[in-house]
Amino acid sequence: MAKQRLSGQRALVTGASSGIGAELARRLAREGANLVITARREERLEALAQELRDAHGVDVRVVASDLADPAAPEALFAATEGSDLAIDVLVNNAGFGAYLDFVDVDWSRYAGMLQVNMTALTQLMHLFLPKMIERRHGYVMNVASTGAYLPCPTFAVYAATKAYVRNLTEAVGYELRKTGVKAISVNPGPTRTEFMDHANQKLKGLGEAGLMSAATCADIAVRKMLAGRRNVVTGFMNALSMWVMRFIPRAMYPFLADVFMSAGVESVKPAALPAPSESKNLPGS
Ligand SMILES: NC(=O)c1ccc[n+]([C@@H]2O[C@H](COP(=O)([O-])OP(=O)(O)OC[C@H]3O[C@@H](n4cnc5c(N)ncnc54)[C@H](OP(=O)(O)O)[C@@H]3O)[C@@H](O)[C@H]2O)c1
Repeated sequence: MAKQRLSGQRALVTGASSGIGAELARRLAREGANLVITARREERLEALAQELRDAHGVDVRVVASDLADPAAPEALFAATEGSDLAIDVLVNNAGFGAYLDFVDVDWSRYAGMLQVNMTALTQLMHLFLPKMIERRHGYVMNVASTGAYLPCPTFAVYAATKAYVRNLTEAVGYELRKTGVKAISVNPGPTRTEFMDHANQKLKGLGEAGLMSAATCADIAVRKMLAGRRNVVTGFMNALSMWVMRFIPRAMYPFLADVFMSAGVESVKPAALPAPSESKNLPGS
C-alpha cells in the first residue's frame, strides 16, 4: 500500500456532497486524512462519511452548511478550530455557475454565486490560515477553473469568480512561501459532475468526448497539492490549451471562449426568469 502522506492530519472539504468535492474527500481519506465534510445536502454527506470510515478507518465529521449564508464561514471555523479540531488542509471546492447571457440571470442568483465562489472562500482562508501559519504547516486548495484563464461570454460572472480565485490563491501562495504553508489553485476543465445540471448547461457535440472524471481530477489536485504546486490545470489537453492562450492576442479571448464553449455545451434557458423571492429554490442558489 502506498504511503499515506496525510496520516493523522485533518482536511475540511467544502462542496463534498457530490462531484469533485466528494472525490477529493475520497482521495484525501486514501492519504490517511481525517475529514470534516460540508455542503447543504446532509444525507449525502452522512453516506460519504460512513463510506470513508469503513474504507479507510479515518475520522469523518459532517457539518451541514449553506455557504451562501454570510455567517457560514465563521460557523465552520467555530465547529472545527474553535472546538479544538485543528484543520491542516482547507479545500475550498464548493461553487456553481450559470451559463446564460449576463442580463438573463436573476440578481439574487449572482449574489449567491459571488458569496459562495469568492467571499466564503476568501473568508475561510482568512479564518484558517493564521492557525496553519502558527503551526508552520498546512495546505489550502482552492478549486477555480480553466474559466479563470479567459473572459467567457454566457459564463461571464462564473468565469470572473474563478479568475478571482486563481489570482487570489497564487498571490497568497507566494506570501506564504516562508511559512511552511502551501496554497494551490486547481483549474479543472470540463469534468463529469452535477455542475452542468445546476448551471443551465446541456452537453452537445464534442462536449461528451472532452469530459474528465471527477476522480481523475481529484487525484491530480491532491498529487499537485502535496508536491507543493501553486497552480495546476487538470489534464494534459486542458493544460496545453491554457498554455497556448499566451500566444494569442487578448482581444480574441471572448470569441475563442465562445467558440470552445458552444462546441461542447448549449445554454438551457429557464422557462421563465424567477422572481427574486423564488430564486432561492434554484439549484446552486
Ligand atoms: N464540473 C466541471 O466541469 C467544473 C469545471 C471547472 C471547475 N469546476 C468547479 O469545481 C467545483 C466543484 O463542482 P463540481 O463540478 O463537483 O459540481 P457539483 O457536483 O455540482 O458540486 C458542487 C458542490 O458545491 C456545493 N455547493 C453549491 N452551492 C453551495 C452552497 N450554497 N453552500 C454549500 N455548498 C454548496 C454542492 O453541495 P450542496 O448542493 O449539497 O450544497 C456540491 O457539493 C466548483 O467550484 C466548480 O466551479 C467544475
